[in-house]
Amino acid sequence: MGFFASFQNLAYIAAALLFILALAGLAKQKTALRGNVLGACGMGLALAATIASAAEGSANMVVFAAMVVLTLVLGAAAGIWRARSVAMTQMPELVAMLHSFVGAAAVLVGWNSYLLQPGGALPDVAENAFHLGEVGLAVLIGAVTLTGSVVAFLKLSGKISGKPLTLPGRNWINLAAIGACVVLIALLIRTQSFVEGVLLLLAITVISLALGFHLVAAIGGGDMPVVVSMLNSYSGWAAAMAGFTLGNDLLIITGALVGSSGAYLSYIMCQGMNRSFASVILGGFGDGAAAQVGEARDYGTHTETSATEVAELLRGSQRVVIAPGYGMATAQAQFPVADLARKLAEGGVDVKFAIHPVAGRMPGHMNVLLAEAKVPYRMVFEMDEVNDDFSDIDTVLVIGANDTVNPAAETEPDSPIAGMPVLRVWEAGQVVVFKRSMGSTGYAGVDNPLFYHDNTKMLLGDAKESVEAVLAAL
Ligand code: TAP
Repeated sequence: MGFFASFQNLAYIAAALLFILALAGLAKQKTALRGNVLGACGMGLALAATIASAAEGSANMVVFAAMVVLTLVLGAAAGIWRARSVAMTQMPELVAMLHSFVGAAAVLVGWNSYLLQPGGALPDVAENAFHLGEVGLAVLIGAVTLTGSVVAFLKLSGKISGKPLTLPGRNWINLAAIGACVVLIALLIRTQSFVEGVLLLLAITVISLALGFHLVAAIGGGDMPVVVSMLNSYSGWAAAMAGFTLGNDLLIITGALVGSSGAYLSYIMCQGMNRSFASVILGGFGDGAAAQVGEARDYGTHTETSATEVAELLRGSQRVVIAPGYGMATAQAQFPVADLARKLAEGGVDVKFAIHPVAGRMPGHMNVLLAEAKVPYRMVFEMDEVNDDFSDIDTVLVIGANDTVNPAAETEPDSPIAGMPVLRVWEAGQVVVFKRSMGSTGYAGVDNPLFYHDNTKMLLGDAKESVEAVLAAL
């Protein structure tokens, strides 16, 4: 084994370990930064090892170096520009776009690996079967990920309508496409003719591209975040398949890590939203939560309050919980909210943030915003850590959250969000809800009886302006 080959093997093992440690680190807010750094180091090492071993086998060093530098510069420039320019609320669409690249790469690797076969007759079927199976699967999963992610990106960015495409018998269409691809891959494995193989692979590519498009087009725009996490999983399996075709162990390990963690993330999101995991994975995801609006009910009247009154209320509180939601993200209110929490804590108040697992529009949305505003980690609690303690809380500030604090999930079995775990903020002494108007609903499109409770006051207006006004009054 040459020096570069041994170096590559060692570097790949180290990179795989760094990726596993990165995932472990990313699981908790306190260790997320370390996890990110470890992941970046692992990727740096993997890139260096791959480039070094490719350089060893290259015929023309100058052309090789020019290609590597050009690719790295172009990729890094595009990556840095997007990472700097993207708004937090656009994160899911950016992730969807990146997944489409992974899908495209898997398709190209699959094709490349097939076309590099010597022309004319293929080697012995038995010898070649495994490789051709990998090629077929890489192209299938990659093409589904590619078009699925492009449709998710277009829907999330509002470039196409978010309405689900409901063709008659859509689940049967998907099933038929999957069945056709399985048959075509079996034929590809058996074929002895290079040209026939090209035609079979072409058919697999076209059907899989159409399948990816249809799978995601059939899902409502509002449900795209779960779909993005599902596509994250698909992109991992596509990368793993590309790893098999290239004989690259690290790509197989990394792809499997992404594939399984993406699937687990989709599962957690589904649980947090009380959705069925199977229906998401099969792409048969109803017509979107917003379409299932429940029966309108009369919950009575709401009570409005002012920033001065809220400041007064906070002055008399010993224990305060802040429950942030999607509205805090759209208003970009995390900075004044963090200032408010700091000010209260300095005055001896026990302040906690209560984070619902699906608050906002992407996993960890609230944690990212609070970290951005430098809220100390010790103030940030997951739903399960605080949900039994609300009766001991004097005041809860609900900042732009709605579904995640909706008691109807527990009390109304016919509600579209029935069974969804929610923050039981209504058990606290006083609740102040920051939202812009009484007319609009949250993501699920249902009214919230919390707003009409006797111990709830509504502070209507943009969350950022309202919190700044409360801060000024304090
Ligand atoms: P939502 O139920 O979406 O409610 C957001 C609230 O923010 C609304 O009441 C809205 O009322 C208010 N708001 C919007 N802009 C505002 C502004 N500028 N200032 C003040 N208030 C503003 O929020 P949530 O409680 O975070 O729940 C999240 C929902 O998204 C859940 O149903 C969840 O299932 C779903 N979801 C989550 C995810 C993930 S992974 N997080 C993924 C997909 C779906 P006004 O319009 O009156 O202001």
